[in-house]
Amino acid sequence: MRGTRVEIRCAALTHNARRARPWQAGSAEVFAMVKADGYGHGLTLAADAMAGEVDGFGVAVLEEARALREHGVSAPILLAEGFFDQDELEQARGLSLEVVVHSSWQVGLLLEHPGPLRIWLKLNTGMNRLGLRPDIALEAAGQLAAAGMKPMGVMSHFACADEASDGRSNTQLRLAGEIADALDLPLSAANSAALIRYPHARAQRVRPGIMLYGSSPFDWQSAAELDLAVSHRFTARLIAINEVQPGDTVGYGATWTAARPGRIGVVAAGYGDGYPRHAPSGTPAAVNGQPTVLVGRVSMDMLTIDLNGIQADIGDEVELWGDDVDVDKVARACGTISYELFCQITGRPERIIV
Ligand SMILES: Cc1ncc(COP(=O)(O)O)c(C=O)c1O
Repeated sequence: MRGTRVEIRCAALTHNARRARPWQAGSAEVFAMVKADGYGHGLTLAADAMAGEVDGFGVAVLEEARALREHGVSAPILLAEGFFDQDELEQARGLSLEVVVHSSWQVGLLLEHPGPLRIWLKLNTGMNRLGLRPDIALEAAGQLAAAGMKPMGVMSHFACADEASDGRSNTQLRLAGEIADALDLPLSAANSAALIRYPHARAQRVRPGIMLYGSSPFDWQSAAELDLAVSHRFTARLIAINEVQPGDTVGYGATWTAARPGRIGVVAAGYGDGYPRHAPSGTPAAVNGQPTVLVGRVSMDMLTIDLNGIQADIGDEVELWGDDVDVDKVARACGTISYELFCQITGRPERIIV
């Protein structure tokens, strides 16, 4: 057995979903974002693990919503990118989804094909990705209401809630709040970062994602410090150990050179398994609980680690992230975020559901 594994911990997902409750202080609904296959954890598995702790689920695309319904999920499901065409609009109706309407073309399609639909009107409050400008949103809400499709809520998304020097969230929140008040509708704005950091941003519904998957939205506070449990653990085995002498190089491109005599461990995981190829030398890993680092380039099926001063034998387990190696530290070393690390695991590693 190659032994390259991703362990998914259902109890950790449940714990993390429960952790969203104290932060959301009181009455706000918690909608767990399970899009992108439950941030790589498994869509229905994540939904099952969190079902008892949350009020509904958020997905990006219709296929994800349908998979949840076919799995038997009867809780509300928010379709965060809304429908892409009339066929999807009708399917969203059939699946009783809550549908985000973010663009004027969607409003137009709805007016051409009126009918019952739970609509969250998405505002562009400064993210400049999806969302209607506030003045357009007010007009759209009026048109939809006149056609018997009064929106059930107003939604927005923060651009910088996870940034240490966030100077935007308050302005975004004020704008969204003004429109929600003007329309006398509930507001949903907070992602994980805002729900933890800004009590006043929780409003009537929060939409946590990454915190549910045991990762911190913040550079300055770890998941452990936030009492979030590890839900995704990536491990592989040591399949070779090589002696190197000063001047020897390791791996493609000879990007790492040994400064002293030492031992290099070859680990059976690479970008073919979803480990990021651009992880530089120095990216953390651990062998039998002992911290170490990557040396040399990650290749398709293998990567190499420094074994100097480390007790390790062929067949030993190397943790790439999980309990001993914080996924957020790996992500930072790679210049990315844990979201991407979770999502890019391929079908090759064995999945162990605990
Ligand atoms: C619309 C929307 N709401 C909520 C979230 C959850 O964000 P996070 O995973 O940072 O908590 C996302 C994720 O990107 C999103 O796109």
